[in-house]
Amino acid sequence: MKAFRDERGLPRGAGWLVSVMLLLACQPVGSSLAVETQDSRAAQGWKLLRSRAYLPPDFDQEIFDELWTTWEQPLRGRAEKASPQERHQMAMQRYGLLPDPENRAHSLQYVVDKNGLWIMSCLACHQGQVNGRTIPGLPNTNYALETLTEDVRLVKVRQRKPFGQMDIGSLFLPLGTTNGTTNAVMFGVALMRHRNAELEIVPRAPRFDLIHHDMDAPPWWHYQRRTHLYADGFAPKGHRMLMQFLLVKENEPATFRQWEDDFRMIESWLQTLKPPRWPWAIDRPLADKGRVVFGTHCATCHGRYESPVAYPEKMIAIDEVGTDRTRFKSLTVQERLDLNQSWFGNFNRETDDGRANPIGYVAPPLDGLWASAPYLHNGSVATLWHILHPTERPTVWQRTPTGYDQQRVGLEITEFQSLPPGKLSAAERRTYFDTSKPGKSAAGHDFPDALDEEEKAALLEYLKTL
Ligand code: HEC
Ligand code: HEC
Repeated sequence: MKAFRDERGLPRGAGWLVSVMLLLACQPVGSSLAVETQDSRAAQGWKLLRSRAYLPPDFDQEIFDELWTTWEQPLRGRAEKASPQERHQMAMQRYGLLPDPENRAHSLQYVVDKNGLWIMSCLACHQGQVNGRTIPGLPNTNYALETLTEDVRLVKVRQRKPFGQMDIGSLFLPLGTTNGTTNAVMFGVALMRHRNAELEIVPRAPRFDLIHHDMDAPPWWHYQRRTHLYADGFAPKGHRMLMQFLLVKENEPATFRQWEDDFRMIESWLQTLKPPRWPWAIDRPLADKGRVVFGTHCATCHGRYESPVAYPEKMIAIDEVGTDRTRFKSLTVQERLDLNQSWFGNFNRETDDGRANPIGYVAPPLDGLWASAPYLHNGSVATLWHILHPTERPTVWQRTPTGYDQQRVGLEITEFQSLPPGKLSAAERRTYFDTSKPGKSAAGHDFPDALDEEEKAALLEYLKTL
């Protein structure tokens, strides 16, 4: 927990107020004051992410405590014999949730309101762990949203409790067919369809032709590097753009305007995030060789990571990068324009910059790359070794819950030629990444094919240092 505070570099909880007051008392008023104020706004942003409910509740504690009764055997049998604390831990692991360092009975991914109701927050998808370490801004690659929602719905039927937005929404839209990835982009499209540019609700028939697909959320420490967001880089960044995920019918246009300042603070916090450093030893001479390989084969697209640092935010044509096309095809030019020209995009009418009609995917920044496995926009490649060996990527893989592969740099996985035979429950099936399914291809990005094994080994060592 201490590490959590140190890495963030921000004082936590009520402590931050005391620290800011102390700092203000000790320092001359002037430019340092402005800096402190900015820091405290960032600290408030982090606090808001964990404490303020921006969506209707998903479930209560009584439901969470009974979820185990819906599990498949032998897990259910084990839960039945376990103590309440062990059962709680089993539930946290099954759904990919982490304890809140300030209150271990709660999860970092859900806000709990004063009535004990759990409410999904941005951190559901955007706060995870690597090798058992919680690093601010690291995406949650264990999140089992669809499994959680299905289990909650069963318990609600038994406890005769009303369904919430997720319970109903998931009957119409898939939420995520592989744990750790979600259909978040399509939730956004489906919800935006019922709003005009001012975010007023407009009656329109729902669309049934949406191209559903799962995405791996990118690390938030890239935020400061980017001018435009998302895999296809069409959305201008800004605090309003961050509020898209709050588009449920309960939130009215006025509510969005009321919350704007909260999201300015949340954006301030995003801007402070730093990529984590590789925590193990590095072979420096080998990494130095890798730096040269990176400079000649990767830097034109991905930028440079030592002074002078440069990130070109380069868009690469879909045929050239060759990765899964589903995300690229899933949004129409009109849908991108609608978002950019709405309140979220500050009514941005710059339609001639071509952003609404991208040619492919943006080459992402690679800072803190070691921590943000799995790779590619759909999370289909488990390690950097597999990124560097395109023909060796398995058809199906399954990760261990928290294992880290230091050799291959990324998730610790078991590889399969196909899904294991026999009947798998839906929850078990979602623990496998099946690259043969639509939207889940691990093909493409063949650029490393130009390198020999020696160059690849050096490059892998260098990538650890980013
Ligand atoms: C259900 C999962 C989920 C939730 C909840 C969620 N996001 Fe995301 N977020 C994603 C995914 C997936 C992407 C990648 C989308 C893409 O690239 O097309 C993303 C992308 C982003 C990006 C762009 C990062 C980049 O470098 O392009 C930002 C910023 C962001 N989300 C902020 C937020 C904020 C703030 C909230 C809460 C208000 C939130 N997200 C809630 C899944 C989620
Ligand atoms: C022609 C441009 C181009 C070149 C050259 C290139 N890349 Fe990429 N790279 C991309 C694009 C575009 C993506 C995003 C693809 C996607 O997500 O589908 C990407 C994605 C990646 C990712 C996944 C990042 C993540 O967070 O998921 C890694 C790792 C990567 N590249 C490493 C490299 C290395 C190492 C090299 C040099 C051998 C290299 N790339 C060369 C364009 C390039």
